[in-house]
Amino acid sequence: MKKRKNILKIAIDSPAAAGAGTIGKALSKHYNLFYLDTGKIYRYIAYLKLNYPKKFNIKFVKSKIQSLKPYDLLKKKLLSNEVSNEASIISKIKYIRKAVHSFQTNFAYNPPKKYNGSCLDGRDITYKIVPDAEFKFYITANLKTRAMRRYKELKNLNKKITYEEVLKSIKKRDKNDLNRKISPLKKTKDSLLINTTNLNKRSCFLKIKKIIDRKINY
Ligand code: C5P
Repeated sequence: MKKRKNILKIAIDSPAAAGAGTIGKALSKHYNLFYLDTGKIYRYIAYLKLNYPKKFNIKFVKSKIQSLKPYDLLKKKLLSNEVSNEASIISKIKYIRKAVHSFQTNFAYNPPKKYNGSCLDGRDITYKIVPDAEFKFYITANLKTRAMRRYKELKNLNKKITYEEVLKSIKKRDKNDLNRKISPLKKTKDSLLINTTNLNKRSCFLKIKKIIDRKINY
């Protein structure tokens, strides 16, 4: 794979609803980076499985990923509990991770010329997808805070769901993501831990910006 030289790469791993997407988007806007919420790819595949169960096989998934445009992903919401739960199931399948892998690495290492680099968030970004990222963060928050954030997000989208249902789903996904054999969620030694439990969006962004600026303005 061809790689663009001298680009800034930010890799973020985090459990569900910890705020990684919000931070990733804000950082990308500020530093002019190509942003990818990698969870959306797994959500999209989960959506395909739920909607086309008879067609769902390796060939079908590969063809869908190959024709996927990064901008199409941005338009997709795919936040329902059903899709979330299915995403954490299909993301354990080896052929699916393999199909998604090259889409992600190409995105990370070959952002369009108009961008200064890339920013990806997910579960295995810091150690598998962009292991040589200039900046690596592990963003987390306590379980109840994360469940409340996701609950409010879903309520804003007029989804019929209770806080308890969201809490249960996030708990289950954490368990799946942390304990699976293939590409589990983990904090690498070289990632900086950011706990967003008591931070609002702005202070979280400023905290990370300070860390980045200190190094790039050196
Ligand atoms: O980040 P998000 O909550 O949207 O991700 C949905 C699911 O996709 C996660 O629970 C996880 O199982 C899976 N995922 C993954 N690897 C990634 C991103 C997401 O396995 N890099």
